Amino acid sequence: MSPALRPATPVIAIDGTAASGKGTIARALARELKFDHLDTGALYRAVAALVLRAGGDPGSRHDALKACAGFCPGIVPEAELRSAAVGEAASQVAVLPEVRAALRDLQVRFAASPPGGRGAVIDGRDIGTVIAPEATAKLFVTAGIAERAHRRWREVQILDPAKTYETILAELRQRDARDAGRAAAPMRPAQDAILLDTTDLSIDAAVAAALEAVRGKLEA
Ligand code: DC
Repeated sequence: MSPALRPATPVIAIDGTAASGKGTIARALARELKFDHLDTGALYRAVAALVLRAGGDPGSRHDALKACAGFCPGIVPEAELRSAAVGEAASQVAVLPEVRAALRDLQVRFAASPPGGRGAVIDGRDIGTVIAPEATAKLFVTAGIAERAHRRWREVQILDPAKTYETILAELRQRDARDAGRAAAPMRPAQDAILLDTTDLSIDAAVAAALEAVRGKLEA
């Protein structure tokens, strides 16, 4: 982050694996602390959705960059962003350094000057390591893969009852491997991140644990 963009207000960086609960935790922390929340996965999902809409290939640099050129926040409706196909394609476009570079400024600016002026909670895969390495508090949220697959399976039951637990488990394994294995800004805990394993925690307990950890840093 350039010195000019050093945040004047606190930044809470929340990274972690898919279906770990990091998004739910980030929203709850933002509500509780009255900070603004940025879901950076939604940015990669929007680029991916634009590629798919155009009939392109999310693994193609050319198609992904064309989508980046047409991207602006809010351009893709929430329901479209949340589809499994868009999530998978998001993980593919996120491998490309040029896509990451195109989305970087918006994230760094949000960290430096959140719209409400009190502080920012930003969730993603590289927030504590790349976007806001000087964040006030960093959490890395994960959970065992079987538990994450169960959570996803319960979520998709209504929309896609034919989708099996085994398929979801295989998709999550592939997603973890791609997100953590890419060369550009791979998913990994920052050295100074607090690790939060939500495998055996209810949503309320996970939020309470995250809030306690973050308050400790905000008050330090
Ligand atoms: O958090 P999510 O499932 O909405 O993210 C979708 C994909 O976007 C994820 O598999 C990897 C990518 N992503 C990323 O590479 N960096 C981020 N900061 C956020 C998401």
